[in-house]
Amino acid sequence: MAERVRVIGVGPGDPDQVTVEALHAMRSVAFFVVSDKSPRGGMPDPLVEARGRLLDRHLGYEPLVVRIEDPVRERRPERTGTDEQYAAAVEAWHDARSLAYEEALLAHDGDAGFLVWGDPAFYDSTIRILERVAARGRVAFDLDVVPGISSVQLLAARHRLVLHEVGQALHVTTGRRLREAIDGGQDNLVVMLNRVIDLDGLDDWQIWWGGNLGTGSEELVAGRVADVVAEIEAARERARDAAGWVMDIFLLRRPEGTT
Ligand SMILES: C[S@@+](CC[C@H](N)C(=O)[O-])C[C@H]1O[C@@H](n2cnc3c(N)ncnc32)[C@H](O)[C@@H]1O
Repeated sequence: MAERVRVIGVGPGDPDQVTVEALHAMRSVAFFVVSDKSPRGGMPDPLVEARGRLLDRHLGYEPLVVRIEDPVRERRPERTGTDEQYAAAVEAWHDARSLAYEEALLAHDGDAGFLVWGDPAFYDSTIRILERVAARGRVAFDLDVVPGISSVQLLAARHRLVLHEVGQALHVTTGRRLREAIDGGQDNLVVMLNRVIDLDGLDDWQIWWGGNLGTGSEELVAGRVADVVAEIEAARERARDAAGWVMDIFLLRRPEGTT
């Protein structure tokens, strides 16, 4: 049975953006647990492949990797449209994942490592799911979190930005919640998890956008929304064509003097 579980942030794609602490943590564990979406779609899971490349690059030996088939998550719009439906879909998925993690932790001895994309504190449920495993009580372990560089930080670095004005607030949200944040008066937002990018009515806002940051298919676009919206769509497509997937993030800033 696993004794300690290490949740290790490994940065948003570039193996050079793995911290020394993460490196030591990766080398310290007896096995890695990796959730893999590929068995379902028949396509390789790009994040599993990327994590594999990180391990190849940084370990210098063949680690024990316990692959878990990622449970199916309800994504149909008609079943996830309301906040309640969305929460229920995520809850069911977390529950199924926690059972799979539990099995992996019961079946292997020593410290376990979970490699988390970016930083575990931003839109990643590994910690929550492991807390659920612990609460069930079938396996007892210490939980340890190693921070990673987040795509939030990499976006700022690539655009040479401070994410907020002097002494001002920064709101971090998802594409799904962008509209309510804007209607609620937020004027400086980082937006992640974008299935689509809907910038209608935001013509005069400023945007700093990044796709597939830290990878060979990285794309950057910045400017007044109305001037660059088509460019962003084209860059998204280029990133998707080059990598087979696209992950993007952007900073949106309200024009001065408007609320
Ligand atoms: C499930 S969240 C994980 C975030 C991650 N924990 C982090 O700290 O960056 C995935 C979202 O993060 C953003 N993201 C992660 N990696 C990215 C990258 N390399 N380039 C651009 N956006 C990225 C995208 O908004 C993507 O939809």
